[in-house]
Amino acid sequence: MTDTSYTENAAGPTTSDEHRAAGHWLLAKMGKKVLRPGGIELTRKLLTQLNIGTGDKVVELGPGIGRTAEIVLAGNYATYIGVDPNQDARAQIAKVLAGHHDASVVQGDARNNGLPDASADLVISEAMLTMQSAADKQKIADEVFRTLAPGGRWGMHEMSLRPDDVDQSVVDQISKALSRTIKVGARPLTAADWTKLVTDAGFELEWQGHNSMRLVDPTRIIADEGLRGALRFFNNVRRNPEARKRILAMRKVFHDNQQNLGAIALVARKPA
Ligand SMILES: C[S@@+](CC[C@H](N)C(=O)[O-])C[C@H]1O[C@@H](n2cnc3c(N)ncnc32)[C@H](O)[C@@H]1O
Repeated sequence: MTDTSYTENAAGPTTSDEHRAAGHWLLAKMGKKVLRPGGIELTRKLLTQLNIGTGDKVVELGPGIGRTAEIVLAGNYATYIGVDPNQDARAQIAKVLAGHHDASVVQGDARNNGLPDASADLVISEAMLTMQSAADKQKIADEVFRTLAPGGRWGMHEMSLRPDDVDQSVVDQISKALSRTIKVGARPLTAADWTKLVTDAGFELEWQGHNSMRLVDPTRIIADEGLRGALRFFNNVRRNPEARKRILAMRKVFHDNQQNLGAIALVARKPA
């Protein structure tokens, strides 16, 4: 499998090449704003668990086009910093942050985010870790630990595999099929392995939530984007045969593997 770690030049949301664009940017180009596996439903459950307060300094790693940032900025928080290596994503999220003097977006990489030690109370990351190699996942977990103040929490939302003792050949086959269609190296973990990732970095697991992985099913699209947003998306896809072909292929891979593929959210705490 090729190394598909993100770079500043990774094909972003405005790329004109439907063959080449990473799956999430293709969806974004068609007007989809929710790009995480468990949909807005699992994001809302995660945010309820995080219960962001007026004193909380929030960092979001890989905010993409900023759907979660929109929700965070509409509620309580002290400061918000989005960290994304992708220039197009930063341009999109800057629009979401406009007018919020306590919110900013910086160019950065979750593996080495450049933020001071213990400078955040909450770190949020969604649909960002799955695409990292095993070594980078651990590097990012360690980096989140460094960035959080004691007692701070990390809320993550990712693709998951099930059951916990899923056969390695199934894992390999799913990773390969996902990577081929979304054109980003996708390496989801089981719930047990996501838990191990955070506990190995020193966190205590506080909460775990699940949802089905139906990112591009029509009912989930309506739930995530609202009726108007969904209709806009369906119309854009209908008018773009290349994009339609790719999105149908993505849906088929998610559907064919639904028995083993899901979405997981975790809240992990850095001990006080
Ligand atoms: C699938 S999108 C998810 C966007 C958003 N979190 C969401 O759930 O809608 C992945 C995002 O992670 C960002 N990303 C990828 N690798 C990253 C890294 N090493 N550090 C920080 N962000 C990264 C991408 O640029 C993109 O914005």
